[in-house]
Amino acid sequence: MSMLSSVLNKTASAANTKITRSLATAAAEKMVNITINGRKIQVKPKTTVLDAAKANGFYIPTLCYHPRLPIAGNCRLCLVDVKGSWKPLTACTTEVWEGMEIETDSPAVIETVRSSLAMMREEHPNDCMTCESNGDCEFQDLIYRYQIDAQHPVRSLLRNKFKKTNHSITEPCYSPYDNSTFSIARDMNKCVKCGRCIRACHHFQNINILGFINRAGYERVGTPMDRPMNFTKCVECGQCSQVCPVGAIAERNEVIEVLKQLDSKRKVVVVSTAPAIRVALAENFNVEPDFDFTPKMVAGLKKLGFDYVFDTNFSADLTIMEEGTELITRLNEGGKFPMFTSCCPGWINMVEKSYPELRDNLSSCKSPQQMIGAVIKTYFAKQLNLNPEDIIHVSVMPCTAKKGEAKRPEFVRKGSDGKDVPDIDYVITTRELLTLLKLKKINPSELKDAKFDSPLGIGSSAGNLFGVTGGVMEAAVRTAQIITGVENPIPLGELKAIRGLDGIKAANVPLKTKDGKDVSVRAAVVSGGANIQKFLEKIKNKELEFDFVEMMMCPGGCINGGGQPKSADPKVVLNKMQRMYTMDNQASLRLSHENPEIKEIYEKFLHEPNGHLSHELLHTHYNDRSKKIQDMSLHQK
Ligand code: SF4
Ligand code: SF4
Ligand code: SF4
Ligand code: FES
Repeated sequence: MSMLSSVLNKTASAANTKITRSLATAAAEKMVNITINGRKIQVKPKTTVLDAAKANGFYIPTLCYHPRLPIAGNCRLCLVDVKGSWKPLTACTTEVWEGMEIETDSPAVIETVRSSLAMMREEHPNDCMTCESNGDCEFQDLIYRYQIDAQHPVRSLLRNKFKKTNHSITEPCYSPYDNSTFSIARDMNKCVKCGRCIRACHHFQNINILGFINRAGYERVGTPMDRPMNFTKCVECGQCSQVCPVGAIAERNEVIEVLKQLDSKRKVVVVSTAPAIRVALAENFNVEPDFDFTPKMVAGLKKLGFDYVFDTNFSADLTIMEEGTELITRLNEGGKFPMFTSCCPGWINMVEKSYPELRDNLSSCKSPQQMIGAVIKTYFAKQLNLNPEDIIHVSVMPCTAKKGEAKRPEFVRKGSDGKDVPDIDYVITTRELLTLLKLKKINPSELKDAKFDSPLGIGSSAGNLFGVTGGVMEAAVRTAQIITGVENPIPLGELKAIRGLDGIKAANVPLKTKDGKDVSVRAAVVSGGANIQKFLEKIKNKELEFDFVEMMMCPGGCINGGGQPKSADPKVVLNKMQRMYTMDNQASLRLSHENPEIKEIYEKFLHEPNGHLSHELLHTHYNDRSKKIQDMSLHQK
């Protein structure tokens, strides 16, 4: 038998074993027979009634349920009638059983849901017309679907009850508004008490800023000791706002300010867009998985009226030049290890508030947002013969924490009149960009393709990978291996150990020192606050040792940022990640140091990575903010 046929036979027998195994599993996993609204269906054991119904096209209303969060079962909207049960059951918490007969649309169920909604509506302000969630609000949809108008009897009953109640006597200091951070706005008047934000902050981040406080009709979502969020350990990641079904927790909205700038045309209005925006828009406009939405996005931004559209992928490449050089310098000359990436402001907030002793381990590089901000108000302004204050720079980000980052006092420069001018004037999230497009009735997918503007409009696909967990590391390794002269660099796209959505990933990467010695750099990639804390604990206890670590606060990285469009699709993050990798495979420019505009900016302006001007414009320092924050977590960690 030839070697090839022996391999084929082995493969075939492996496939057969797989088939036999899956048949055995199917037999062991006997399907459960149930009936929903008179229709017989089969589902896997342990499926919840909600999942069974959704998979088979039956509608059940939900509010506290979110596909990416642990189930809480507290809104009671998903009630169904089950034959033999003396009370309706919650579909999100109840698993199917053999012979189960379910009704999702019985008059009793519908009336109970309507009463619950009417009670919630009574407590909810009628602010829809100016609410940032207008048109993208699960509660609004439910009120409309069930037609809960002012005539619902529960509403007049409640109105009489509330007339006799004086909330201010019980809670004299309570304000429902919290604008204490530059990133997140809370308006607890709009809260429907679903608890999703609490679960997101605990489950994804293990930071536990939010929790239910009070009892007996006064229950509401609050922070530890009811402090403003800025005085808690909140990292401003916005994961809570991503899952809020209403507009109770949202980004600090800057849409109107940006609109004013676009309409008045008094200044040159420049926009830059982060890598994760284009894949989020591609998902939002439902285009084919291998369709690169970038030219449509640029066309949409131009149609909105921006004078120049620049690519934050350019400054991601710039970050690689600066951060890669910093890593190589630390390896050659010594420095703090592990060196942590510094492009995620959520992570920077965590270090400054909770781990200030790690500040020297952070790369001194500004984030790509702040790098392009500095370069636009200097290098680009000079090319147009403008002063920094003549330019308005709007940064489109998947991130709420970037709003806070842009407001850091160190990220300003002097204007011609000696006054401070911020490098970034406004940061809008992907959600806010969609609002802008909607307001101006622009559908980018219908527009003719457009290109980014020069001189900050070319980005490599390595820079684009910054949007997904592991991408910064992958981009850095590509360039560092070539710059240090590694003989057989890892082929592009083959650093598989740090790809994918796992929360903690690691790889050994060969590099060379300046005297030609081979070194194996121990690289790690961590995303999600809960994973970051676990990882740091192991580093502290010396159970793990690494040289270079990429840290991203949102699980999966910026594709899953707190400012991304809300989605009930559990696969949305995975889809965005796959789009990122497809874009990398399709790209012709895949290395940051080969970006012609990067070469040009060093030739004409910055001169060398980590040089004098680079340090002035592209690097920063970090502060200890831990003293201002006392640890008053609501949960035990
Ligand atoms: S912004 Fe992030 S850290 Fe702050 S409360 Fe929300 S989820 Fe928690
Ligand atoms: S703030 Fe939003 S997510 Fe949190 S409980 Fe209220 S409605 Fe739910
Ligand atoms: S991972 Fe990305 S979206 Fe999330 S906080 Fe960090 S920079 Fe922002
Ligand atoms: S969705 Fe089931 S109880 Fe809220």
